[in-house]
Amino acid sequence: MSGRIPREFINELLVRVDIVDLIDSYVPLKKTGSNFTARCPFHSEKTPSFSVSPKKQFFHCFGCGASGNAIGFLMDFNHLNFVEALESLAGFAGLEIPREADSGSGSIKTDTGHLVIALQKAAAIYSLQLRSTEEGKKAVVYLKNRRISSQIAQDYQLGYAPQQSKSLLANLNQDDLLAAGILGRNDNGETYPRFRNRVMFPIRDKRGRTIGFGGRVLDDSLPKYLNSPETPLFHKGREVYGLYELLEENPKPERIIVTEGYMDVIALAQFGIRYAVATLGTAATPAHFELLFRFTAELVLCFDGDNAGRQAVWRAIDAAMPSLRDGRQLRVLLLPQGQDPDSLVRSHGSSHFNTLITQAQPLSDYFFQQQQEGLNLTELEARAQLLNNCKPYLEKLPEGVYKTMMLTRLKELAKSDALENLAKPGKLSMPALKSFGKNRQSHSPLRMVLALLIQNPELLTLVEDKATAWEDLNFRGVDVFTNVIDTIKAIKPANAAALLEHFRDSEHEKIIKNLAAMELLMPEDGISQEFSILWTNSSGRPNNLP
Ligand code: UTP
Ligand code: MN
Repeated sequence: MSGRIPREFINELLVRVDIVDLIDSYVPLKKTGSNFTARCPFHSEKTPSFSVSPKKQFFHCFGCGASGNAIGFLMDFNHLNFVEALESLAGFAGLEIPREADSGSGSIKTDTGHLVIALQKAAAIYSLQLRSTEEGKKAVVYLKNRRISSQIAQDYQLGYAPQQSKSLLANLNQDDLLAAGILGRNDNGETYPRFRNRVMFPIRDKRGRTIGFGGRVLDDSLPKYLNSPETPLFHKGREVYGLYELLEENPKPERIIVTEGYMDVIALAQFGIRYAVATLGTAATPAHFELLFRFTAELVLCFDGDNAGRQAVWRAIDAAMPSLRDGRQLRVLLLPQGQDPDSLVRSHGSSHFNTLITQAQPLSDYFFQQQQEGLNLTELEARAQLLNNCKPYLEKLPEGVYKTMMLTRLKELAKSDALENLAKPGKLSMPALKSFGKNRQSHSPLRMVLALLIQNPELLTLVEDKATAWEDLNFRGVDVFTNVIDTIKAIKPANAAALLEHFRDSEHEKIIKNLAAMELLMPEDGISQEFSILWTNSSGRPNNLP
């Protein structure tokens, strides 16, 4: 299959499928008033705060903040990417996905299918070279010296790329090998096998498809590791080593350890710690954290305690910040200088290592402890510096209880309120929502109008003729407002879910999701009247829209 999936089909799908049926097939739902509830599948809880609205075709958890439409549910619940979720949803609805004709710019989907085949064949060749050739014996000796068991070598499909492999690869499609990075091309335009005389580590994506390789020399020569280049299939900044093997063992691990090396993942697995992954010789990226948090709520950064390791931890923390929504946790374990998980688990055993992992420092402790180091906080200057150093990190946290608490802690340490422009506590956080019934005034009319509109897009027709020229208005949030109105006019969404879908991955996605989740607590038959009144009242004197 190739080509883009038409947007009309996505809308159609969101209208055809009832999100209540869909979610109920995974998580049994109970009817409560006009909504359906269950214990949230995205965090552990004793009393249900997960709610599904048939009207909005939208789910929302008041506990952890997870929310979205049917596509979002499948992505989060089954760890699917967008296209996979669409395929799954189409299957649920009994529909075929139509594809728009290829634009000719090279359909990535088709190409990568070939590449996967080439890579998988190469992996089989390398693995055979390790197990049954004379030359491969030196790689076997190397692995033995590193005390890697043959079972683990098999589990991770380790292999050996011999000094000369041109003839071995001759039967495979050379263009595919080139595109997949197995072959390189020199300045004279000749191709050559990239990996020579190296132990080979196939890198698999979460579904188990081989997408690249790492290769290690057998001695002290350089470079120690050679990795596949970036290809249409392989992006170091988005993949980690060991994820497939980990998910095979347990699709919902309690935590995942993030290490720096291939050998760390393998050694830990050999010692029964089968929940570690490694970045691929690059700094950890936001995409890495988004990927990993789809499978677990807790990540433990397990890095070398030397200077380079500490710096890597800070880069990782920076990259993790946007993913740290409530309910997710990051912890840090700095190993004794010069040790890596491989050497440590081999010298001290798995129970020692497991203990270290469970005792790893929560990010909040690590963050403020490290940031305070070398600062004399009795001095105002030092406190100002602390504020300035911490702000860029904390700003990246998503709105929520965790962010509020981290900012509060910073204010206490700095003895300062100079953070007001940063902290936006209580905007749409849980407490504000819960007190909503008692305190309706806490929502500005404009905010109410927009929430009503997002939740009932058909309301726009009520006012379209007498619509004020919002474009001329200038208030905070006017861009969100006009964006929503223009979108409703353009796509005429059947419900909130279809409207939301339009904003996936856009800058306003978050605020629109929040407004879709807002509980308006008004009778169904009063909605249009309330909307008209609010619209007229607020269009003259718009308040700030947070
Ligand atoms: P390390 O140098 O810490 O190696 O690199 P290691 O994982 O402990 O490997 P062993 O134990 O010596 O075999 C950590 C990671 O950095 C990347 C690799 O992904 C490696 O696993 N790396 C390292 C490279 O990509 N290229 C290199 O030359 C070195
Ligand atoms: Mn090592």
